[in-house]
Amino acid sequence: MKILVTGGAGYIGSVVVADLIKLGHQVKVFDDLSTGHEDAIDPAATFINGSMLDKLALASALHNCEAVIHFAAKSLVGESVTNPELYWNTNLIGTKNLLTAMVQADVRKIVFSSTAAVYGDPLSSPITETAQTIPKSPYGESKLAVDDLLSEFCQSEKFAAISLRYFNVAGAVGNLGERHSPETHLIPNILSAVLNSEHIFEIYGDSWPTKDGTCIRDYIHVADLSVAHVKALTKLTHGTHHILNLGTETGSSVLDVVAAVEAVTGKKVETQISSPRDGDPAILVTSNKLAKEILGWEPVYDLPKIVEDAYEFMKANR
Ligand SMILES: NC(=O)c1ccc[n+]([C@@H]2O[C@H](COP(=O)([O-])OP(=O)(O)OC[C@H]3O[C@@H](n4cnc5c(N)ncnc54)[C@H](O)[C@@H]3O)[C@@H](O)[C@H]2O)c1
Repeated sequence: MKILVTGGAGYIGSVVVADLIKLGHQVKVFDDLSTGHEDAIDPAATFINGSMLDKLALASALHNCEAVIHFAAKSLVGESVTNPELYWNTNLIGTKNLLTAMVQADVRKIVFSSTAAVYGDPLSSPITETAQTIPKSPYGESKLAVDDLLSEFCQSEKFAAISLRYFNVAGAVGNLGERHSPETHLIPNILSAVLNSEHIFEIYGDSWPTKDGTCIRDYIHVADLSVAHVKALTKLTHGTHHILNLGTETGSSVLDVVAAVEAVTGKKVETQISSPRDGDPAILVTSNKLAKEILGWEPVYDLPKIVEDAYEFMKANR
């Protein structure tokens, strides 16, 4: 298949691009490198340096394509609160530009990176796709707006769309791993504390209503996530928009992650408890029943493997 991957120079996009190439697909990567890295793009893919805000560049990138996987976005919750315009422009207007260009090019298949952030602070756990969507940040709001837009395009333009709502993506595949700046994700930050022995890892609150008082999240290996994208490409049906949560159905607390890091690295993590952050839900764990049913997908990696692969990547890329 000929596939356009927006955001293919980023963390998750680069892993999916490498898998698509391995499977024999022809891939074009469209990315402005604002948070991505050109050296993460598989050399067998064609790279187009362009912005989601450039309609002409999008139209030309879509030439000869059959489907799109759309990762390109801004995705820092805190930044979205201080600079919401950047999020509405990149995430919503950028996607509108993409969908309009897809109509013009008659490319009507799309897999979209949505997020658990659309659910806000869910009332029950595990979270299913029918849970209320009350995002607590412009980031989550902008992603929810794109999910809604995709539903409209499936109806009015006979698009075939799948939104994948990721929970906490982590781990690495060989030389492809997290290189976010700033890094806001737990696992690379704890590993940094271990690799840089002067660094003390801060835990935001230890009196949450959880088994050990620290927040619980659902960590999914980026390799498992990538497989779900490849499968999603084969399940696209015109006129239908599937929304699927992607996680492992396993909750790990911050202290579980600290223990996993200590077990994998053989080193002690120096921690200190600080105030809870506003807006952090205590528990975010998803059901993945629907994803299993619709995609025929099942995650295979657990937390120790996620930490092990992230650690190998970080040691090699310090
Ligand atoms: N990492 C996670 O845990 C997680 C969880 C839920 C959802 N997501 C979503 O998954 C997607 C990928 O996340 P990631 O962690 O790989 O992030 P990333 O920042 O590594 O990748 C995003 C890519 O999009 C590109 N990009 C950003 N703005 C662009 C623009 N205007 N034009 C063209 N390219 C642009 C960046 O340069 C980067 O290569 C995002 O849409 C994110 O919201 C990620």
